[in-house]
Amino acid sequence: MTIHIGAAAGDIAETVLMPGDPYRARWAAETFLKAPKLVNEVRGMLGYTGTWNGHRVTIQGSGMGMPSLSIYVNELIRDYGAKTLIRIGSCGGMQEHVNLRDVIVAMTATSVSTPSLGIFRELNFAPSADWSLLRAAVAAAESKGTPTHVGGIYSSDVFYDERPDLNEQMVRHGILGVEMEAAELYTLALRHGCRALAVLTVSDHLLTGEALPSEDREKSFGDMVEIALSAAFA
Ligand code: ADE
Repeated sequence: MTIHIGAAAGDIAETVLMPGDPYRARWAAETFLKAPKLVNEVRGMLGYTGTWNGHRVTIQGSGMGMPSLSIYVNELIRDYGAKTLIRIGSCGGMQEHVNLRDVIVAMTATSVSTPSLGIFRELNFAPSADWSLLRAAVAAAESKGTPTHVGGIYSSDVFYDERPDLNEQMVRHGILGVEMEAAELYTLALRHGCRALAVLTVSDHLLTGEALPSEDREKSFGDMVEIALSAAFA
């Protein structure tokens, strides 16, 4: 047990999928895992462990934003021995060729700051995905036929952004989409010698103002979970 995770030692698998939303963790576990067992419900941040194609997997909510994700990822890695961590979540599209429901596999995650800013200070650290996971996720997406983009994303500290100029710079520099967690996930995984990746579904679009209706989200979310699971055990 840790401060934020009530799971017993051994209840968490080495491979952890992390949606921001705890109810999506429950949905993904009940939909894709065999014999999912609830292993955490501290603060309602649900986590389940089960098997997928015979492999043990935990699906644990991270909450929204890097400070929340950082708590769970630190405890999963340091106290429970997690080795492969894949964020599955939504993002806002930032390029014209990126459409709603498309999947983005994030090669890098740019940020203004992460909870790790205290370490890096003036250094512009470049949080990047694990190559083996990235390659396997792209292969899985291609074999499913899911429209997929690979490149940089922006991990923002705010959803309601009062600095549109920053988003404009991201668009100008080819950033594919915006979310709020991956940069810290990548940084922590690199620090601790673990593998990390973010596989994201485009749920809204900053250039067009479109957004997926909530009933449409489940199917797109399912493709992303399958891509993440295939990549983890490739
Ligand atoms: N997650 C999904 N859409 C987002 C957006 N537009 N900004 C930040 N995070 C998001």
